[in-house]
Amino acid sequence: MSFPFSIFLLAFLLAPVAAIPCPTGFTRLVTTGQCLKMIVAPLSYSDASAKCKSLGAKVLTIQNAIQNNAVLSFATASATGNDKDYWLGLQCTTASSSSCNWADGSKFSFDGFAEGQPNNSLGTCVFVGNRGQTAGQWFSAECGLVKTNVICEVN
Ligand SMILES: *[C@@H]1O[C@H](CO)[C@@H](O)[C@H](O)[C@H]1NC(C)=O
Repeated sequence: MSFPFSIFLLAFLLAPVAAIPCPTGFTRLVTTGQCLKMIVAPLSYSDASAKCKSLGAKVLTIQNAIQNNAVLSFATASATGNDKDYWLGLQCTTASSSSCNWADGSKFSFDGFAEGQPNNSLGTCVFVGNRGQTAGQWFSAECGLVKTNVICEVN
């Protein structure tokens, strides 16, 4: 590929993402392009999901390690209290990650689970832990009983 053409192609690929602003109250992550808003409140999964829906958004989806790390930094900066964990828009119905399905219907490939997770005995919902050694690792949780923050994402 010639140099000028590759520059042109790069500009073409990057321009649409950079040009479209996130909705008011959402922040675009520079590294991943995701538009996110963290709701810092103890929410059950269904309340978290309803909250995101009311903002025209969905509960966070994570597709790769770069997103996992970038979102972790965003959450750490956004959360004000002691609880900096956050829900994923993910359900896992068995103790195998092959049973996991993203709520937005996207393909499940990247797996950020902590050792021994997912564990459907703990529940079918999943949150990202954000404390100490296990920060950024994913854990199963009971959808209605566990209450934590949510990061809403707009496409
Ligand atoms: C799954 O969770 C249950 C309930 O806490 C626990 O008894 C079991 O040991 C866990 N399984 C694994 C593989 O960690």
